[in-house]
Amino acid sequence: MTTPPEIAEALAQAIAAAAEVRGTTSPNPAVGAAILDSAGAIVGVGATQPPGGPHAEVMALADAGARAQGGTAVVTLEPCNHTGRTGPCSQALFDAGIQRVFYAQADPFPAAAGGAEFLALKGVEVHFLDVKIPTLQPWLNAVKSERPNVTLKFASTLDGFAAATDGSSQWITGAAARAFVHEDRSRRDAIIVGTGTALADNPSLTARSGDRLYPRQPRRVVVGKREIGAGNLQRLGFEQYPGIPEALKALWEEGCRDVLIEGGPTLAAAALRMDVVDNIQAYVAPALLGAGRSILNWPQETSISEIMRFETSAVQQLDNDVLIEMQRKGL
Ligand SMILES: NC(=O)c1ccc[n+]([C@@H]2O[C@H](COP(=O)([O-])OP(=O)(O)OC[C@H]3O[C@@H](n4cnc5c(N)ncnc54)[C@H](OP(=O)(O)O)[C@@H]3O)[C@@H](O)[C@H]2O)c1
Repeated sequence: MTTPPEIAEALAQAIAAAAEVRGTTSPNPAVGAAILDSAGAIVGVGATQPPGGPHAEVMALADAGARAQGGTAVVTLEPCNHTGRTGPCSQALFDAGIQRVFYAQADPFPAAAGGAEFLALKGVEVHFLDVKIPTLQPWLNAVKSERPNVTLKFASTLDGFAAATDGSSQWITGAAARAFVHEDRSRRDAIIVGTGTALADNPSLTARSGDRLYPRQPRRVVVGKREIGAGNLQRLGFEQYPGIPEALKALWEEGCRDVLIEGGPTLAAAALRMDVVDNIQAYVAPALLGAGRSILNWPQETSISEIMRFETSAVQQLDNDVLIEMQRKGL
């Protein structure tokens, strides 16, 4: 079935609403919803509130009020069918008199799935749109793999170096790319670095806009066995785990679904070898060093048969730099 234009427009508004709340909903997904009245006009839009608050469908229904009666709901994720901290969204849609539901992605979470089936059994017309929603991808992958989705982020020269051979380094990318990194950090559940980076750079790992901290800060995690200074750890609110599996397990159990590994090169290579990297954000500066310290500290010889290939999902220019976003094949 070709998607009617008013449904496509409602989905675009639902996606935009979901993007606004990305990073505020874990362990729940950031979902967006739009309600059309019986004449096809968009009369309500909503997105998932922080845990314990209403889900997207309930927000959109509240926005629409009585105009939802006989109308259509367009949702980025299949309406949930279980009672957790809030009631099932499938029931809320039915109770509001919604007659058609379009959803972009199915819910793989066994406890919540089944909303589409529930609605269909109640006589509601249900359509699966099968549209990939980038802001939902980390959550979907986390739920399927039962660990947080991992994005590896690095900044490099065009020839793949993070620093010069003598170790001297300064910001490789410009102000626009760095501002983008900070906004992105504010949307993640946790940021992870190795003890090497913690000791060398003493980073704050906060999400800032100029001198101002973003209202929402990610958890700050250091991985490795070396002591990085209890005083410093406590002062900055860092958590430390001996290895990547321990960190991912603890973060998953505490509700993190979307985490960023920010290096350095030894930890980045370890995460790739463990096959836990789902996405890559490569901030590439139009600059060359000729020789230098690679973005990956790879411990052994390689053969072309071992090449790790990813799929490009987005490319954008940030002033003079380029951000290439990639994901593992099949995600
Ligand atoms: N350009 C960029 O994007 C970027 C980003 C971040 C950092 N950097 C630079 O990178 C440099 C630091 O990098 P680095 O490579 O020395 O250190 P690193 O990658 O930050 O940390 C390495 C440490 O990670 C720990 N680790 C935990 N699990 C591991 C595993 N499975 N395999 C290997 N290590 C594991 C080990 O800690 P223990 O030895 O304590 O057990 C290891 O020594 C700094 O100069 C920093 O400025 C650049």
